[in-house]
Amino acid sequence: MTGCLIIFALLALLLAGCDRRGPDGEQVNPREKIIIKFSHVVADDTPKGQAARRFARLVEERTGGRVEVQVFPNSTLYKDGEELDALMDGRVQMIAPSTSKLGSLAPQWQLLDLPYLFESEEEVHRVLDGEIGRKLFATLEGYNIHTLAFWDNGFKQMTNSKRPLVYPEDFRGLTFRVMINSRVLEEQFRLLGASAVQLPFNDVYQALAGGQVDGQENTMSNIYSQRFYQVQPYLTVSNHGFIGYVVLTNAGFWQSLPPDVRRVIEEAMAEVTAWEREQAAHLNEENFKQVKESGQVKIHVQTAEEKARWKEALAPLYQKFRGMPGGELLDEVLKAKRAL
Ligand code: LMR
Repeated sequence: MTGCLIIFALLALLLAGCDRRGPDGEQVNPREKIIIKFSHVVADDTPKGQAARRFARLVEERTGGRVEVQVFPNSTLYKDGEELDALMDGRVQMIAPSTSKLGSLAPQWQLLDLPYLFESEEEVHRVLDGEIGRKLFATLEGYNIHTLAFWDNGFKQMTNSKRPLVYPEDFRGLTFRVMINSRVLEEQFRLLGASAVQLPFNDVYQALAGGQVDGQENTMSNIYSQRFYQVQPYLTVSNHGFIGYVVLTNAGFWQSLPPDVRRVIEEAMAEVTAWEREQAAHLNEENFKQVKESGQVKIHVQTAEEKARWKEALAPLYQKFRGMPGGELLDEVLKAKRAL
């Protein structure tokens, strides 16, 4: 009986494989099939998770199954600290890390970690979708990386297990997890009198739950989907920084693709990027409501006066960044913002 079932399952698999057809209805030769492994570190029900799946579906549909995009969420294939190497070596073909994590290759990306650099998503898009974004993309040339798009995660909020974070002095003596590869993020917490520990995303929940760190900063969709709010009773809505993603592919792989496939990918990516940005704003709002309704977190919404105090405490970071690689880009961002 079991033998029959196995044979039946194998036949079904074989038939499903044979039914792959190209855009004109012709069968896809398995030898011509292109597999794109897309690895990322967040949950499926986040802006990046949903956009990766949508991109996979569009590309597969529009190439009639000739290209298959396999999405690996939640650090299941590669985690922070591994995924960039895996991309450059061609072990995966696509990743979409937070820009902060590119600091190990090109420190210029830490520009985007500066606190209170942007006031709204619209400002982020208008500044990064132009010349400044192109200059940042250019820093990755030479690393076998081709850049496809900027996606949003959203504005960061502060959480911790000890006390409400209202004024800069409330940070004193606390330890915060920061994203890997960003000196700017470490320095941000130092200026507030706290210490910072770089940790890969997949280790954050355990570090918070086990008390190895007291707090962290992240977007609402990550705070909700990773259940940080269940072990972090204090949340300050501070919108003090922005997490954006850069969607990357292996440059050698990109060059090896037939031009028509590259075109389909670029078009699908443009469409998904517009959708992802709307979805990020929507999910962050939705997840904020869910965290509020959980009743597990004491929420403080930062006032204008408190924001001025945080900004004052963090101002030396701008001066410091001007002396770092990419420092010249800071004044370009400030100029571009004034021109909006
Ligand atoms: C984090 O490490 O906190 C985030 O960058 C995770 C992500 O990809 O949103």
